[in-house]
Amino acid sequence: MIGRNDVCWCGSGKKWKKCHYPQEPNKAEASPSELYFTRYGIILKTPQQIAGIRRSCHLAAQILDATCRMAKAGVTTMELNDYAHELHLKAGAIPAPLGYGSPPFPKSICTSLNEVICHGIPDYRPLQDGDILNIDVTCILDGYYGDCSRMVCIGDVDAEKQRVVDVSYKCLMRSLDILAPGLAINKIGDVIQSYAEDHNCSVVTQFVGHGVGLRFHEPPQVPHHRTQIDTPLAAGMIFTIEPMINAGKKEAVIDKHDKWTARTIDNKPSAQWEHTVLITDAGYEVLTLL
Ligand code: MF3
Ligand code: CO
Ligand code: CO
Repeated sequence: MIGRNDVCWCGSGKKWKKCHYPQEPNKAEASPSELYFTRYGIILKTPQQIAGIRRSCHLAAQILDATCRMAKAGVTTMELNDYAHELHLKAGAIPAPLGYGSPPFPKSICTSLNEVICHGIPDYRPLQDGDILNIDVTCILDGYYGDCSRMVCIGDVDAEKQRVVDVSYKCLMRSLDILAPGLAINKIGDVIQSYAEDHNCSVVTQFVGHGVGLRFHEPPQVPHHRTQIDTPLAAGMIFTIEPMINAGKKEAVIDKHDKWTARTIDNKPSAQWEHTVLITDAGYEVLTLL
């Protein structure tokens, strides 16, 4: 039985009492939205929500592109953070990481260098020749979230770093290729883990892709490794794929002091690329393209 303060069955994301109340969900002819919400907690987005999330994703991609272009030897990740922060404000958007979670994330973007897997915090260390850097931008525009990240190579990087950068990019692209309604979600992890292991890399399992759009992190979880989770994709689903690929062991260790920075256990390099995607009747749309 649905309660007044529960999320409405129609998929709006609003409380029932503010939406379709007192109309009850119709059990006999449940719509895909009702089914996905009750069964998996997944909100299939309405056309209006999709339009808003598409705009937010496009902005995130633009901010990410501009910030990546600033990343050169001698520049600090704090300078990148401050630049990206300004771009959010100029566009009337909010950087989602700032103040997110507990303890609250202290900066506006994530900058993850070399052996840092994800959630690196911008600081005053200048970028150096040979560094690999992930920049992760999530913006909130008109209440809608868009999430994407990319790698930047600073000058000449060694073969091991180049390998994780290239393999993580290919893992993301190959997993996008197969997306379509009806596909079991674990096919994504199958493709990524196979490609990574064929190229002498490991897949991080402690962090996963995620539903996104109305909140920063929504169901479903999207593992990048092999699992038994066979939830079928459906038109209107919006989620990220963001494989974190390591040159050595797959294990992540969270920094004891800041509680965010996730590093490889063997200090070998790690790389990640991220897109937000929409499942459509025809297949899929990458929302975080320029
Ligand atoms: N953008 C990251 C993701 O892809 C999440 C960062 S959480 C933060 O899911 F608090 F570190 F920003
Ligand atoms: Co994400
Ligand atoms: Co992200």
